[in-house]
Amino acid sequence: MKVLITGGAGFIGSHTADALIERGDDVVLLDNLSKPVHLKGIPTYLHPKAKLIIGDVRDPKVFLEALEGVDAVFHLAAYQDYLPDFSTFFSVNAVGTALLYELIVSNKLPVKRVVVASSQAVAGEGQYRCAEHGLQAPSARPLEQLERGDWEYKCPQCNRNMNWAWTSETFAHPENQYALSKQSQENMTLAFGRRYDIPSAAMRYSIVQGPRQSFYNAYSGACRIFSLHYFFKKAPTIYEDGLMNRDFVNYQDVVRANLIALDNPEAVGQVLNVGGGKAYTVREFDRIVAEISGCPEIEPSIPGFFRYGDTRNSCSDTAKLKGLGWKPMHTMQDSVTAYVDWLRSQKDVGDIFEYAEKNMRSLNVLRETKR
Ligand SMILES: NC(=O)c1ccc[n+]([C@@H]2O[C@H](COP(=O)([O-])OP(=O)(O)OC[C@H]3O[C@@H](n4cnc5c(N)ncnc54)[C@H](O)[C@@H]3O)[C@@H](O)[C@H]2O)c1
Repeated sequence: MKVLITGGAGFIGSHTADALIERGDDVVLLDNLSKPVHLKGIPTYLHPKAKLIIGDVRDPKVFLEALEGVDAVFHLAAYQDYLPDFSTFFSVNAVGTALLYELIVSNKLPVKRVVVASSQAVAGEGQYRCAEHGLQAPSARPLEQLERGDWEYKCPQCNRNMNWAWTSETFAHPENQYALSKQSQENMTLAFGRRYDIPSAAMRYSIVQGPRQSFYNAYSGACRIFSLHYFFKKAPTIYEDGLMNRDFVNYQDVVRANLIALDNPEAVGQVLNVGGGKAYTVREFDRIVAEISGCPEIEPSIPGFFRYGDTRNSCSDTAKLKGLGWKPMHTMQDSVTAYVDWLRSQKDVGDIFEYAEKNMRSLNVLRETKR
């Protein structure tokens, strides 16, 4: 089978490419090597048997060329950032996906499967449960609440703290430009796939962890920041009270989920959550990184800073994907060990640290409580 992976020079795409080549598939990568993800040009980790086409998923000419003779497509190319250039999110993510289906339909291409990367971000804060008033779907917490250092969600009816719930694919509550663009990708995948009989599936990945995740993008988050700090024996800063929950998922488990979406007919027409199945608080996650980095004695700083717009808890219910025979096989320790090993293999960790710190300051997203 010949498989095109858009965004194939990136983190998830390159690991998916390796797995496909390993099992004997031909792989083409279409990637514009966008900055800052690829600050240093073509990544050295790309499989030598993968054919790289450097180009943009918004360019019909190069996209059509990349689709030549292709049986299946992983559409992973995406713009992911915190910047307020809202139109870029829709131009790359939504228009890129529309163009993919447009090219398949208008050129009657014999593509037998399309798998599109969505995101847990589509679910926003996800669902919460009030002991008395049942399931709720809260919006982002007001700034005044966060400035008081009051982190938890309250029931809109009785104002008591609510518990987060594992959130299924039926739920959507996108609250930022990235999530909105990802939701539109999901909707197109289901609608065009069904209408034009192009077997398609959309994958809502939770936070994916493992080697090759760019050190230079704005969103790679806690694993990069904690690992970099512990590499230099410094204390990282944890936001809020560190008790927010995340269902981090291992990159190899994500690759297996992708292969199921490619091969299993039951994946067609589905949105599938791909999460780790276990919730960790950021504090627990920090301890795992400190331990694996060899400095459990260094304690993080928790000064009450927060990022306005961050979700408090994000945990996806993976029952649907498990119904297709998938389950997470790797622990958080596996993911962090692989990441820390990869960080240690870099020649310029000092530059990476400096870049990450400068980037966080220039984004100006950190706020302080006013207690
Ligand atoms: N990594 C995660 O935790 C995570 C979580 C949820 C969803 N996702 C989604 O999974 C997909 C892959 O994410 P990733 O972590 O591998 O990201 P990544 O940044 O490592 O890879 C994305 C790739 O897309 C390429 N790209 C960006 N704009 C492009 C364009 N206009 N044309 C062609 N190529 C372009 C980049 O150069 C990059 O190589 C994305 O769609 C992302 O939104 C990732």
